[in-house]
Amino acid sequence: LHNMDRGWLGTPIDELNRMPQCAPPLSHLKVVPNHTVTVRTDLLREGEVPVPYPTKFKDAWDDVSVKMPCSEKNLFPMETEDGGGVQSRWELIHTALQGGFKSSLDVRPIPLLKSRMNHSLTMSQEQIACLLANAFFCTFPRRNSRKSEYCNYPEINFYRLFEGSSSRKIEKLKTLLCYFRRVSQIRPKGLVTFTRQMVNNPPNWESSQTQLTRLHITCEGTIEDDGYGMLQVDFANRFVGGGVTGHGLVQEEIRFLINPELIVSRLFTEAMEYNECLIITGTEQYSKYSGYAESYKWKESHTDETDDWQRRCTEIVAIDALKFRHFLEQFLPEKMVRELNKAYCGFFRSNTNSKHLSAVATGNWGCGAFGGDTRLKALIQLMAAAEAGRDMAYFTFGDAQLMRDVHEIHTFLTGRKVTVGRLYSLLNQYSSTVCKNCRTTRPDESLYSFIYQKVSSQTATDALKSAKDSG
Ligand code: AR6
Repeated sequence: LHNMDRGWLGTPIDELNRMPQCAPPLSHLKVVPNHTVTVRTDLLREGEVPVPYPTKFKDAWDDVSVKMPCSEKNLFPMETEDGGGVQSRWELIHTALQGGFKSSLDVRPIPLLKSRMNHSLTMSQEQIACLLANAFFCTFPRRNSRKSEYCNYPEINFYRLFEGSSSRKIEKLKTLLCYFRRVSQIRPKGLVTFTRQMVNNPPNWESSQTQLTRLHITCEGTIEDDGYGMLQVDFANRFVGGGVTGHGLVQEEIRFLINPELIVSRLFTEAMEYNECLIITGTEQYSKYSGYAESYKWKESHTDETDDWQRRCTEIVAIDALKFRHFLEQFLPEKMVRELNKAYCGFFRSNTNSKHLSAVATGNWGCGAFGGDTRLKALIQLMAAAEAGRDMAYFTFGDAQLMRDVHEIHTFLTGRKVTVGRLYSLLNQYSSTVCKNCRTTRPDESLYSFIYQKVSSQTATDALKSAKDSG
């Protein structure tokens, strides 16, 4: 078949690294100071439900832990005959919901993953189901008003999902109820790890001698279906999950609905800073969907086949792009560096050899709701992936022209051995010569034609020089 007819270009997708095949041998799951594990690691057995740790609920009502609905300190003010008083809110919740389902009593205090913390948290899928049931019933304390102590955290209680009767809300609820049905029919046995990662020393883009890595690009398929085993990008909001519990229904929200265990990250993940990301490993896909945004529909229950030892190998990284209102804004050097560093933060893994890193499965990051330019963002992501030592599978979401354009420039740049550093300086030149003087909303000269022209004329000059030098 000719490339044009098969909907993809570049490196065949089967040549890219996927997990678990590309992984180095697994070391045992260990509790270390920067990794909280809420199950007994010594009792982990394949095919069995992990045993929670500690066995007795450990209460903490402080500013480094998640405040739990079942805490003794979770009190409700009462009006009584002899004035004021307080009552256990958990008892009220119990009575209100009439018992009959599992409580969150077994959970170790869940640390808040605050800004600038490099910390991992591993929980069992069963514990997550319990926490999400609480979110469904809106029992998390201090989380119902935006102006509370959790104002820098995403919303966790689902109350907004019950507002209105738009088809969006109905389809969202169908998707979530499918999840609750599944986890209450069969106890899930796996583990999920949430890692907040901060990068303090981003690459020196200007002086980078790194060559671009391999690219598979296609206008068919999606990140979640065809990027299995790869590092899958969540086109995130700095409040992870964005509008999943509200009105939002684009890439991130859809992913959080079909893999609902992602939603629990909203309980403990403080808003991301410019140099931070959240990596989530092991979530399961419970639903299939059709459509997108307004046309989104829950389709059916889905059996997730991706498997690994007690933790599904699905690795998702939440990186939030900048939102642009004007096209030209994104070419400002500081904005381009911000996006480069953000993508790099998501793709980079310390102490891991390139050959053990899965490819990045991504697409039009920051180019839908956030208004970015796909051609610029594709280059930025390619540069970040190159620095992080990973190949890339890019899903253009139906855009065949974009597939051809990005493939063409990637082939051109790799063919001429253009380094990340050189590309970075070309982006800045485009910014200062074309964008800065532009008086219209969009520049006359496109970024890619600028790059073709500069690199070609440079090559011509070099050729001329070497011809002269050799006599
Ligand atoms: N696979 C591949 N590409 C996709 C997929 C998919 N499953 N879904 C969408 N696309 P958008 P943003 C393409 O707008 O601009 C959320 O509310 C499609 O071309 O979700 O970074 C977050 O919480 C789409 O136009 O990402 C943030 O608040 C493009 O990816 C905000 O949106 C961008 O998807 C982030 O907006």
